Amino acid sequence: MKDELKYLTGFGNEFSSEDERCPGALPEGQNSPQKCPYGLYAEQLSGTAFTAPRDENKRTWFYRIKPSVCHDVFEPLNGVSVHLTHDWGKISPNPNQLRWRPFDVPTRQEPEVDFVEGLHTICGAGDSRCRSGLVIHVYLCNASMKDKAFYNSDGDFLIVPQLGPLNITTEFGKMRVEPNEICVIQRGMRFSVTVFGPSRGYILEVFDNHFQLPQLGPIGANGLANPRDFQTPVAWYEDRDVLYKIINKYQGKLFLANQDHSPFDVVAWHGNYVPYKYNLDNFMVINSVSFDHCDPSIFTVLTCPSNRPGTAIADFVIFPPRWSVQEHTFRPPYYHRNCMSEFMGLIKGHYEAKAEGFQPGGGSLHSCMTPHGPDANSFKAASAAELRSERIADGTQAFMFETYYGLAVTEWASTICNKLDSNYYKCWKTLEKNFNPNQK
Ligand code: FE2
Repeated sequence: MKDELKYLTGFGNEFSSEDERCPGALPEGQNSPQKCPYGLYAEQLSGTAFTAPRDENKRTWFYRIKPSVCHDVFEPLNGVSVHLTHDWGKISPNPNQLRWRPFDVPTRQEPEVDFVEGLHTICGAGDSRCRSGLVIHVYLCNASMKDKAFYNSDGDFLIVPQLGPLNITTEFGKMRVEPNEICVIQRGMRFSVTVFGPSRGYILEVFDNHFQLPQLGPIGANGLANPRDFQTPVAWYEDRDVLYKIINKYQGKLFLANQDHSPFDVVAWHGNYVPYKYNLDNFMVINSVSFDHCDPSIFTVLTCPSNRPGTAIADFVIFPPRWSVQEHTFRPPYYHRNCMSEFMGLIKGHYEAKAEGFQPGGGSLHSCMTPHGPDANSFKAASAAELRSERIADGTQAFMFETYYGLAVTEWASTICNKLDSNYYKCWKTLEKNFNPNQK
């Protein structure tokens, strides 16, 4: 599949694309002519209110074989994805530092679980009905979605594969997303996921707004994630009349409707409301070259802004391979307490602030004002290290979902998954008192 794929590049652009089998499928000069080329139907997908300011307005026009409305009734999909939830009402708050061992993935020998069936919610806040909130999930699956498509009415998915690539067919075309790449599939977009064995990854879902590139301020025009490195699929369609299952996540619950044709029947499209992917290796790292530590916001790939200036609903932040050169500086992350909540995951390698216990496919949560920082062994080693210029995080990709919401941890993540490390707090217990008032 990889060799066949083509992409449009750029972030937030007005793109247009037509399947090469139907040249001229895009109407010229008009979005919805009386008769579209090739007998197609015109359909708009709105990602913002019709009247959103021009620089925020997002929509796409599809030219498709059948409009999306041609489906049977949506019925509740019970007994599937039972650990997917937005229901925080009965959860007891937990302010402790939390860390999870790698979440179990179904093996090839176990019953088939696809991407949607494998969604498990770790934590979240808010209510999609009020368009305010955020949810963090993992997907744990071993099978492809067969004649089955999913769309989310609640929020945008930022998907971070950790184990196994994803071949994602969308209404806009096809994307292949490997570990160390991410993709964003926004509200309303239909997609289907093919996997190639046991697969695991993280999902950040936001209700309030869409992801955008962070402002660069004094950094200037270049740096961090550059717009040209984002890729959007080119139009691809199939004209296949089969029983197709459409699964909708709506107000935190799943619903199923059947239809008699593939939903991936978009022959051409144009617009700026598009799915996209990004290779984290393309991130231009900016960091201190004198002394002290920049705040982790310097590593922001994408941000979902709130209405408060500089305060994000959620930031997606990575800690990529880079040079560490600071002088007179304790180089691992400083100890801190944050008014934001920080969920961390590890795609691969070894994160520099933890000597052990934080593993690829696992996670940690340091909630609002919960203190955290390097474990005792990392502190000891870094305090005595010779401060040469050195490469750090080679072969590693740790990331953080940081949010201003306070998060509720689900029952699945607290107990059922059986991955919570009850001894996590002990990694700081052996920090010694080094204070000596007689020795500066
Ligand atoms: Fe932190």
